Amino acid sequence: MTVVIAAINGKGGAGKTTTLMNIAGEYALRGGRVAMIDMDARNNLMKWWTDSQEKDSQPEGIEVYSHKTARGFEHWMQENASAFDQVLIDTPGEDTSIVDPVIASSDLVISPIQPSKREVLGAIDSFENVLRINDALGRECRHGVLRTRITVTVRHTELYRKIRPIIEDKVGTYLFRTEVFERNVYKDIHNGIGTLQMLEVTEAIAKARRETRALVEEVDTLLGGASMAEHAA
Ligand SMILES: Nc1ncnc2c1ncn2[C@@H]1O[C@H](COP(=O)(O)OP(=O)(O)OP(=O)(O)O)[C@@H](O)[C@H]1O
Ligand SMILES: [Mg+2]
Repeated sequence: MTVVIAAINGKGGAGKTTTLMNIAGEYALRGGRVAMIDMDARNNLMKWWTDSQEKDSQPEGIEVYSHKTARGFEHWMQENASAFDQVLIDTPGEDTSIVDPVIASSDLVISPIQPSKREVLGAIDSFENVLRINDALGRECRHGVLRTRITVTVRHTELYRKIRPIIEDKVGTYLFRTEVFERNVYKDIHNGIGTLQMLEVTEAIAKARRETRALVEEVDTLLGGASMAEHAA
């Protein structure tokens, strides 16, 4: 079974591309055949991929494709998705209807947020889009909010403390227990050096890898629950 995961937050810079690169690296490390689709016109994911190739650091087990239209995306999914274990979809950091067909194809939508009001609102909008499309299509795409770029300082802010009650109690979606910390290595991988999992393990990299493993385990748990619900239905 192919698992389809999209990163969506209509407010730019939330950490969508970075999150998907790390998740992809983890699945590839486990031997998964991973496809990534860059639907953002700025092509950050595709640039990472081609830069990595040029630097002889192309991640094994990961293929990156570029689709900027709903039609191209849907066609690719129909023809190719089943050849992969995971399909990870990167979307633009702006409000756009291109996310509708992406949600319609996904098992899980992750909305990364750096703790700012604007990004929290973007994540809530994404959740509402998931609910709307689930309703319209009778699907059960899951949604979760992922805190990224966390620092000790951020953790002392009022907004940070309000995130869980807002996301889980008020809005009613899932908040990942795993938080992604602000780490230089997450910036570095954007420079075309392959995945986090390909880097020589230093103490800093080991921390980032533990964090990523915990995130992927959480993703798997969420999705395992989803597929069991489908079987029961
Ligand atoms: N956990 C992190 N620690 C440090 N830097 C990070 C982290 N996550 C993301 N960044 C940096 O923040 C910037 C934005 O991250 P990223 O490109 O993943 O966000 P995005 O949501 O895909 O943005 P856009 O909407 O512009 O596509 C990048 O320069 C990235 O290197
Ligand atoms: Mg991006």
